[in-house]
Amino acid sequence: MKKIILLYWGLGGNVERTANMIYNMFDPETIDISDVVSFDVNNLSKYELMILGHSTIGAEDWQEAKADNEWNAFFRRLEGVGKTNIIAASFGLGDQVLYPDHFVDSLGIYKDEMDKMNIPIIGSWPTEGYKYTDSDGEKDGKFFGLALDVDNEPELSQERMLKWTSEIKEKLKF
Ligand SMILES: Cc1cc2nc3c(=O)[nH]c(=O)nc-3n(C[C@H](O)[C@H](O)[C@H](O)COP(=O)(O)O)c2cc1C
Repeated sequence: MKKIILLYWGLGGNVERTANMIYNMFDPETIDISDVVSFDVNNLSKYELMILGHSTIGAEDWQEAKADNEWNAFFRRLEGVGKTNIIAASFGLGDQVLYPDHFVDSLGIYKDEMDKMNIPIIGSWPTEGYKYTDSDGEKDGKFFGLALDVDNEPELSQERMLKWTSEIKEKLKF
């Protein structure tokens, strides 16, 4: 059986903590976890689904090919692999209170990158229950992946993660 690979960045903060929580919601036989820098994209063929975990810390920083922009570097390595059968899902962390005009924009950047490579995505998530004014991570009432605000809504985040992971398991027939 093919497995899930959960890839995340950055290290030592909310994203890494959340990635570990999501990892623990799956049977360990069905999922591996790695930070995105340590992962060798040549191993992608072992996996059916990649879950990408990230946060929004200024959209420009995310997209620019800066030496410290590990997502950009990962997407370029992924392009280099060429056609794969992988599908993708993603969770994005943000802060609705401090950044209501750019809430979880990283979910939109991820969606654009997957579209460029024709990688299908699953795991969209309803926008109901969130309070923000604008987001590149959303279209027609759906986020392109799971939106989490662990700064302001840690209890809701736990529930959201449980529901989202159970929907993913159902889709993959795990
Ligand atoms: C400099 C900075 C910029 C941020 N910009 C945004 C933003 O544009 N949109 C958003 O939703 N959250 C934004 N955030 C909130 C983070 O995404 C959120 O706190 C996240 O949980 C951080 O994860 P980390 O601890 O792994 O870095 C920003 C945080 C920082 C420190």
